[in-house]
Amino acid sequence: MTQTTPEMLQISPEYYAAKLPAGQPAVGTMPNERLPEGAKLPLMLQELEIPRGTGTFTLKNRASVPPMCMYSARDGFPAPFHIAHHGQFALHGMGSIVVEATAVLPEGRISPEDVGIWKDEHIAAHAGLVQTIKAIGPGVYFGIQIAHAGRKASTPTPWLPGTDDAKPYVEEKDGGWPKGVVGPSAIPAAEGHIVPHELSIDEIRSIEKAFVDGAARAYRAGYDFVEIHSAHGYLISSFNSPLSNKRKDEYGGSFENRTRLLRNIVKGIREQFPDKGLWVRINGTDAVEYTREDSWTIESTKQIAPLLEEAGVDVLDISSGGTVTYNRFDLVPGYQLPLSGAIKDLGLKRMKISVVGVLQDGTEHEPTKIGLLAEQSLQNGKADIVSVGRGSLKSPNWVELAACNMVGVPTVGAVQYEYAVASLKRFQFDVSEKS
Ligand SMILES: Cc1cc2nc3c(=O)[nH]c(=O)nc-3n(C[C@H](O)[C@H](O)[C@H](O)COP(=O)(O)O)c2cc1C
Repeated sequence: MTQTTPEMLQISPEYYAAKLPAGQPAVGTMPNERLPEGAKLPLMLQELEIPRGTGTFTLKNRASVPPMCMYSARDGFPAPFHIAHHGQFALHGMGSIVVEATAVLPEGRISPEDVGIWKDEHIAAHAGLVQTIKAIGPGVYFGIQIAHAGRKASTPTPWLPGTDDAKPYVEEKDGGWPKGVVGPSAIPAAEGHIVPHELSIDEIRSIEKAFVDGAARAYRAGYDFVEIHSAHGYLISSFNSPLSNKRKDEYGGSFENRTRLLRNIVKGIREQFPDKGLWVRINGTDAVEYTREDSWTIESTKQIAPLLEEAGVDVLDISSGGTVTYNRFDLVPGYQLPLSGAIKDLGLKRMKISVVGVLQDGTEHEPTKIGLLAEQSLQNGKADIVSVGRGSLKSPNWVELAACNMVGVPTVGAVQYEYAVASLKRFQFDVSEKS
């Protein structure tokens, strides 16, 4: 398996830094001299100082790319695809980028094609990715989501032919590990899915260690921060939720016991890495309030948020759902804003709040609306950081388009592009004259 290394790419942030004029503004920013007269700098384009362990980091803007599985790795190694994929967001100035759910153990992958960080051999490939992305997008805050899929592991890559509900898991002959699927309790994620092996206390402790080791490898590779995946029904979130956790020991029952896995992982990482970036993605709700079952709700998130802040988490990234298939959402633009807003309302002093979920109004045929809902969410105090997933897959230059919509000019573009794009101004675009 070929690994992508910085040496292969012959590229480094220092190379660009040496070539560029001093004081070159970073992509994705809006220096005052660029802002049209009378226009006010939108919050989204303002810098934001966020905690980073014992220190701080200044985000160049508040637009973020959330983790998104691409199912394009072999044996966990990030590949040139991942460089191109994250490169497009970095090149166009997104302020922070989080690499997809990356497995801390091979059996913690969602699919056989997931990215991984379970062995030291992965580090060089991640380092190649990190160095390239930082060179391409100066000032970008580049992190990685570390994850264990738990009872939702060994599932098929959604875009591979033959993937359908009739075959919800990948068998051993196709590279899956149905016998290695684990969870807090022997309850499958959905009908027809694998009944997970109920983890013993020793096995849970070794998973806690795997998360800390995975974080250590990520920091060694140069990532600015790791985001612990504690959402969407994957392992940690399945411990948090009483829907999937029916244990009677110290990891089940009370809120304190169910959240022990998450809290131990945070503690383990912080003890070893007091000065590194540490984010947590958490469910704002399991979204089954309508059933009246005992579940993870916004009250649970309100309870855990101050504990995570105290434990040294820098950013809490609010999402929801995925614990059970019968969750229900009112899928309107910004549908998770009430959840992030409830956490913002707690008035926490240190930890910042990120929100995600269709932060775009209008339809996909009305791109002029890009950025307006996200900006409004920041203005209304619903979040500190706005994360845009599918929107940035569709328009990797999302933040540039948002700037155009908000103040009439794009954010600073890549030096390699800007002078060329500027030459287009000479042309009058009027197709009607030619027809
Ligand atoms: C292709 C795809 C892959 C995703 N993979 C992950 C993942 O690895 N980890 C995660 O926490 N969320 C994942 N998500 C959820 C997104 O991070 C995001 O929360 C969700 O898409 C809603 O935001 P959006 O409406 O801006 O797309 C994924 C979403 C998509 C579309």
